[in-house]
Amino acid sequence: MPQTTAIPKDGIEPMDMRGLRPDRFDSAGHDQLVDVRDLQAALPGIRRLRNWAHDALALQPGEDAVDIGSGTGSEVLTFADAVGPTGTALGVEPDPNLLAAAERRATDLGSSAKFHTGDAYGLPFGADSFDAVLCERVFQHLTAPLRAANEIARVLRPGGRVVVMDSDWGTAIVHPGDRRVVRDVVDTLASATTNPLSGRRLPGLLTKAGLVIDEIGSHALVQDRSVGAGSLVTRISAMAVARGVITETQREQLIADLQAGADNGDIHLSVTMFAVLAHKPG
Ligand SMILES: C[S@@+](CC[C@H](N)C(=O)[O-])C[C@H]1O[C@@H](n2cnc3c(N)ncnc32)[C@H](O)[C@@H]1O
Repeated sequence: MPQTTAIPKDGIEPMDMRGLRPDRFDSAGHDQLVDVRDLQAALPGIRRLRNWAHDALALQPGEDAVDIGSGTGSEVLTFADAVGPTGTALGVEPDPNLLAAAERRATDLGSSAKFHTGDAYGLPFGADSFDAVLCERVFQHLTAPLRAANEIARVLRPGGRVVVMDSDWGTAIVHPGDRRVVRDVVDTLASATTNPLSGRRLPGLLTKAGLVIDEIGSHALVQDRSVGAGSLVTRISAMAVARGVITETQREQLIADLQAGADNGDIHLSVTMFAVLAHKPG
């Protein structure tokens, strides 16, 4: 159900209102979520940034690595291949259905990847446990991201590396379309996300947690140009109508403009993801 909370003019809700939202996805529709994430994983942009993350972490045989909010577990499987039988590759995931899907996958593939139930705010590990940490597209769901950054710093060994990746919805581009309607739709999307500007905040959070920033990578995720409005803009623009931010006529016009753009080749929908490599001083 669309939320009916009034959206302030700048479209970004204050932290205390966002803080009322749960950090996790609803338990409904898990199979669909698993499918959607797997489809996303196939998107070349995410794959490229993930490859960058694995190169940057440069896991060695025998090392210990953890992926926080590991979802369906694809990156933990990659960790397991890199660290080999003498290392450990763990995923931490609070959602029991995603956890079960990841465990099934690892078993089916004969992988040594292991999964634990747990939360970014209280990782079920002692201090100085890991050589490498990955955390992808989790911080945008967190009401208290600094607590999670502090937990990453705690479980890393001195010299250990971390990559935290997230989108920043302030970078969303929807073209063509009336500029004001587009802005209202993008603002609706941002206000429906717990921590919508997460991407730009990652370096500051990790620095505050005592880590040293080594590199920042980015990649714009560009939607397939043939699909017009696509499912995201279709869904969020309906939410904007339900909230009274735009009219149904404006929504229909936006979707028609995007379809025309898809037909004549003048269309661009994207959001930029940022990936931050940092280490714990030794
Ligand atoms: C967009 S998915 C990303 C999953 C995976 N990292 C990937 O990139 O495919 C967001 C993940 O964050 C997890 N998550 C949400 N709140 C969390 C929390 N407080 N601690 C740890 N994980 C959390 C969700 O259960 C979900 O698996």
